[in-house]
Amino acid sequence: MSDDVAEYYNQNTTSFLRFGRGSRTTGSIHRALWGPGVTSHAQAMDYVHTRIITAFQNTMPARETGGDPQRSVQLADLGCGVGASMQRVSAALDAEVSGVTVSSVQQRLATARCASSRRRCRVLTGDFTDPTVLGALADRGPLDGIWMIEAYNHAHDGDELLQGIATILRPGGILAICDDIPDDRLVNGPLNRRETRRREEFVNGWHVHTFWSPEMLRRRAEAHGLELIGHEDYSNYVAVDRPRDLLVRAIAGPARRLHLRGGEWDNMRGGNALQQLSKSRLIRYAMYLFRRR
Ligand SMILES: C[S@@+](CC[C@H](N)C(=O)[O-])C[C@H]1O[C@@H](n2cnc3c(N)ncnc32)[C@H](O)[C@@H]1O
Repeated sequence: MSDDVAEYYNQNTTSFLRFGRGSRTTGSIHRALWGPGVTSHAQAMDYVHTRIITAFQNTMPARETGGDPQRSVQLADLGCGVGASMQRVSAALDAEVSGVTVSSVQQRLATARCASSRRRCRVLTGDFTDPTVLGALADRGPLDGIWMIEAYNHAHDGDELLQGIATILRPGGILAICDDIPDDRLVNGPLNRRETRRREEFVNGWHVHTFWSPEMLRRRAEAHGLELIGHEDYSNYVAVDRPRDLLVRAIAGPARRLHLRGGEWDNMRGGNALQQLSKSRLIRYAMYLFRRR
């Protein structure tokens, strides 16, 4: 079950949307990526969408929709937040998109967003490792594509997740996972004390339950019939050491020494630890693409 994650998002979604610079204007709850050609914050929030759309277009020719040209493209967003990515991808690919979030607060906001935009989207509340939930996402038939943005790491059981995904993707269907992927040494060691502390702060503060290196992810996916077909590393596009990051860093140290714990503190320390781990390349922000055999 994913009660801690549900509680985390039920409690924090409103403040993410209110205070997160990019989230406030776009509704996306993910990293801004300053990739090639990006000149504005809105574009940086959209960058990951453009990569997912391109990946689906390249790997999923328009007429290849499960062999039936009349059938519209069927996609799912696992860990859909408040539905911003669903709207964007649905419009770009003229696809029907089903989303799931573990947070009832997000589900309400996402449903309202979808209704107001008249896109062909629907949003469920539930756990994306639950076969019943996955079955409901695919009730119109096997899916052509699935994406996950900053959601896969939250899965309590990564194997269950991949197994479930393989069940609802059609053969040839595409899975795109975009997340913080740790280096093998960060998963298996050896680590010095500071690195160990940062790993714990990130994993605990950000409710990370699936913490696999690229090779572990590749092998586990392969075992479930999902073949790795590509990956893109966006680590260099994530802004670090912005004034607000430096402020958080200045607070994170004393917060640790004073044993300040709980939602905001854990979130802040987790984010700071993640940034430090990223700077030393022990963790990378990347997209992995798989094709269902
Ligand atoms: C960092 S947010 C990203 C939201 C969205 N993908 C975006 O980019 O705006 C993580 C999302 O994963 C969802 N999530 C985490 N664990 C989940 C689970 N077990 N089942 C369903 N959703 C989950 C959360 O509810 C949240 O929507």
